[in-house]
Formats: sequence, structure tokens, C-alpha cells
Amino acid sequence: MDRWEFGMHLRSSGHHHGPPTVKVVYHLEDPESLTGGNKEVHELMAAKGEHLLEVAMEHGINIEHACGGVCACSTCHVYIEKGMEDLSEATEAEEDRVEEAPGLQRNSRLSCQCVVKGDGPIHVRVPAWNRNAIKEIPH
Ligand code: FES
Repeated sequence: MDRWEFGMHLRSSGHHHGPPTVKVVYHLEDPESLTGGNKEVHELMAAKGEHLLEVAMEHGINIEHACGGVCACSTCHVYIEKGMEDLSEATEAEEDRVEEAPGLQRNSRLSCQCVVKGDGPIHVRVPAWNRNAIKEIPH
């Protein structure tokens, strides 16, 4: 079973979306592990109401999402470099959770919790350690 397959384990926002009118640019620090290719910048179009994790996954950018997009891990951590005001505000649950992410910054968000609201453009950086975020338990 391919655990990264879109639709199998990812909670998408579910309802019907309007036309994709919002430009979202993903900057991949490690494109090889996220897409299998070497293209670092992906300009995509999103519909309002979609979250950033599903937009990426729909276009073959396999951002880690260990909990399936329910705000119960921090593996879908990204940085919002532009357009934070075009996204839904972080809930308290997200704020608590994102603090566990390695490389926390002021513009850190959990991509599964960022719903596209405004007109963009939105710029998202996916950190290189995204695919290696599963922590080893120290003993
Ligand atoms: S996928 Fe787990 S918090 Fe986003």
C-alpha cells in the first residue's frame, strides 16, 4: 500500500470548490523527495476553500501528512512567505501543534489547516526536512 497516495489517507476539505482562481507558489527545498523531480518552484492555482496540503498533493507535491490532515501531527509544516492574510487564521489547536515542528518560525503553519480565503498570490516554502519529520524516540 502506498501510504502517500492522495485520497487514501488525506482528509480533504471535502465540499465542492469554485474555480481555481488563487495563485499559490510552492518553493520546495528538497524537490526530489517531495516530487521525484528537481523543479523547485511550482506555480499552482487553488480554489478558495481548499487547504494548502490538498492543493499541493493534488499536483504531485507529496507533503508529509502523518495524521491525514487533522491537526494531530506537525509533519505538514510549511512557511508562508507571502499571503498569510489570504489564509484562514491559525486556531489554538494549530498553534499548539505547530510548536512541535522542527525549525519553527514566525511564519510557520500547518499546511492542512491553511484554508485559502483571499485572492493571493500565496507563497509557501516547504522545508527540506519535511519528509524526515518522524522523530525517533530517545532512550
Ligand atoms: S497532516 Fe497532521 S497536522 Fe497537518
